Amino acid sequence: PQTQPLAGIKLMLTAGPTREALDPVRFISNHSSGKMGFALAHAAARLGAEVTLVSGPVALATPTGVTRIDVESAAQMHAAVMQDIARQHIFIACAAVADYAPKTVAEHKIKKTQSDAMVIELTKNPDIVADVAARENKPFTVGFAAETRDLEQYARDKLNRKKLDMIAANNVAAAGQGFNSDSNALTVLWPTGKTELPLAGKSELAILLLTLIAEKYHDTHRA
Ligand code: C5P
Repeated sequence: PQTQPLAGIKLMLTAGPTREALDPVRFISNHSSGKMGFALAHAAARLGAEVTLVSGPVALATPTGVTRIDVESAAQMHAAVMQDIARQHIFIACAAVADYAPKTVAEHKIKKTQSDAMVIELTKNPDIVADVAARENKPFTVGFAAETRDLEQYARDKLNRKKLDMIAANNVAAAGQGFNSDSNALTVLWPTGKTELPLAGKSELAILLLTLIAEKYHDTHRA
């Protein structure tokens, strides 16, 4: 099983940012490029998996052999994931999902007023990866953590709190890695251990991370 460690495996990923509408012409979003998620989708297909990629708005081509579902908001991403999660063996949450969305979406463009201040009320979005990990017969569930400090501590906390099988943490404050970069470095944690994947191109890193995921997935399904 060296070259195709994911043969026969159904693998779903989320990637990119979400857009949370304020009105017909405005939204709240973030700087996620989708590059890491798309690199993982490409690598997973190369390693033999049947890949479904649920993507927020990004400017990237769909990797060969990957089924892509385009969404905009966190609510739409959540719905697209849940619709097909039951048949997945592995789920990787790479998307930078907005934590909050405007409580109401104005039907018409919001107009400027005399006031110098404006308040937008936000409401919490569903946590997609936590909802997947809470399922009975859940897939092997991998999350990402983008942090600017105390990387390992925050990531370990997220692993436990969201009941993940693995988490890949990256320091988005470090130069040459993370958001929009073509390279990345990851600290990968699972309940009983950890490993460092040093700075590398995102496609090389994707192969290394998926090889590790395949190994841990097969470990938990051999017992
Ligand atoms: O808590 P935090 O947003 O930092 O967790 C990051 C991880 O959770 C990532 O894997 C991200 O894709 C996932 N996530 C999610 N749904 C959310 C928020 C985060 O799936 N609403």
